[in-house]
Amino acid sequence: MSRAAHPAGPRYADVLPGGSVSAPPADLNALEAKVWPSSARREESGEMSVGGVPVRRFVAEHGTPAYVIDEADWRTRARAWLAAFGDYDPAEPPVHYASKAFLSRGVARWAAEEGLGLDVCSGGELAIALAADFPAHRLTFHGNNKSRAELVRALDAGVGRIVLDSFEEIDRLAELAAERRVRPRVMVRITVGVEAHTHEFIATAHEDQKFGFSLSGGLAAEAVRRVLKHEALDLVGIHSHIGSQIFDTSGFEVAAHRAVGLLAGIRDEHGVRLPELDLGGGLGIAYTSEDDPADAFDIVAGLKAIVARECFGYGLAVPRLTVEPGRAIAGTPGITLYEVGTVKPLDGLRTYVSVDGGMSDNIRTALYDAVYTCALASRTSEAPPMLARVVGKHCESGDIVVRDTWLPADVAAGDLIAVAATGAYCRSMASNYNHALRPPVVSVRDGATRLLVRRETEEDLLALDLG
Ligand code: LLP
Repeated sequence: MSRAAHPAGPRYADVLPGGSVSAPPADLNALEAKVWPSSARREESGEMSVGGVPVRRFVAEHGTPAYVIDEADWRTRARAWLAAFGDYDPAEPPVHYASKAFLSRGVARWAAEEGLGLDVCSGGELAIALAADFPAHRLTFHGNNKSRAELVRALDAGVGRIVLDSFEEIDRLAELAAERRVRPRVMVRITVGVEAHTHEFIATAHEDQKFGFSLSGGLAAEAVRRVLKHEALDLVGIHSHIGSQIFDTSGFEVAAHRAVGLLAGIRDEHGVRLPELDLGGGLGIAYTSEDDPADAFDIVAGLKAIVARECFGYGLAVPRLTVEPGRAIAGTPGITLYEVGTVKPLDGLRTYVSVDGGMSDNIRTALYDAVYTCALASRTSEAPPMLARVVGKHCESGDIVVRDTWLPADVAAGDLIAVAATGAYCRSMASNYNHALRPPVVSVRDGATRLLVRRETEEDLLALDLG
């Protein structure tokens, strides 16, 4: 294949006022450790490999586009979160993987084997977890509008905790539990009034949004009153989730401060000491070299210290602390592999590199202005850097996978592009827009691949369409 260099165009500063892209990295072939799966490397041939599987072999087996998960990396991150808590009762793990990041039966088994709990927030996520024989007592069931059918399913399965999110739900669950003569453990989700420094759509603790009971408005205290009145509900704690892709732990400090204040208020008003506090998920990961996430150990140590200090202030016993990382476990171990189909240099602007997927397999760029790192994966190149935009094949100009990136100027049709840190919220938010077939999810480990979710087929599309 001939690899004529495309004109690189003017320097980034000229074409992107405000400098939304930084200067080209010194080595375009390098794979920065914090952004890529821990096993990602360049083989002698120059191609990238993950889990000991070179990408060209991977693609020969599974095609493109495809999601690839480094299983060992996923498990190592899960273990690190658990280890950060030190001693705990394995029947009540302090870390619940937020399955919305990505769940399949295979992943539910990894979570079970590693000893994690699982947070599910829909009948579908619950169904996958149960189908994988995930221990129901290690499940937490979330959602701001759980249906009666979902609540019944959760009760019948014996999920460990149900997080109550509305007054209707308190009564609904109490009634369903009483009918079944069960007494589910429940938590009350509170809104602590924190402005998390993240995209508006993934911030969840400011007042003006749909989740939880507001603390400042007194709704949280009222929810606790109502739950305590129901014999059929066993109130075990308070839940707060302030948002996602957060690096600044000050939001968690405020959340812990206010949540512990509520626990103290509950003790004073009702003489009840709630034993649990769940601070949710939300810890950020590195999508680019500019992101610097703290490691699990430091985060957990910080949260524990804050909660202990707050409890000391109120003369409260320290509750059992739990967290629900999704992205921080699943994000970095996953990448997406695409094949380049067309390369369009736009004189004086940038070069559009079209790949064989797009917003149907990664909606995050279009939805949240998310930024990503990508690399030429099928080979190395010594060509000069070219300002590029990696776009998909959908019928929208907003169909962008990586908005601003530097790729070698000789990128051409047939090359493979890998996008880093797509293990969370990409397959789980994928769609069939333009009747795209959703890509497979394949785990890699010790040189072998394992299909977790197969690629969709046109038969799958037609099976739903009754003609
Ligand atoms: N716990 C609760 C109650 C949550 O609502 C979430 C995320 C998590 C835990 C896990 O958050 P994580 O650790 O993964 O940040 N689709 C968005 C993220 C939405 C997250 C919604 N809830 C994205 O692609 O960034």
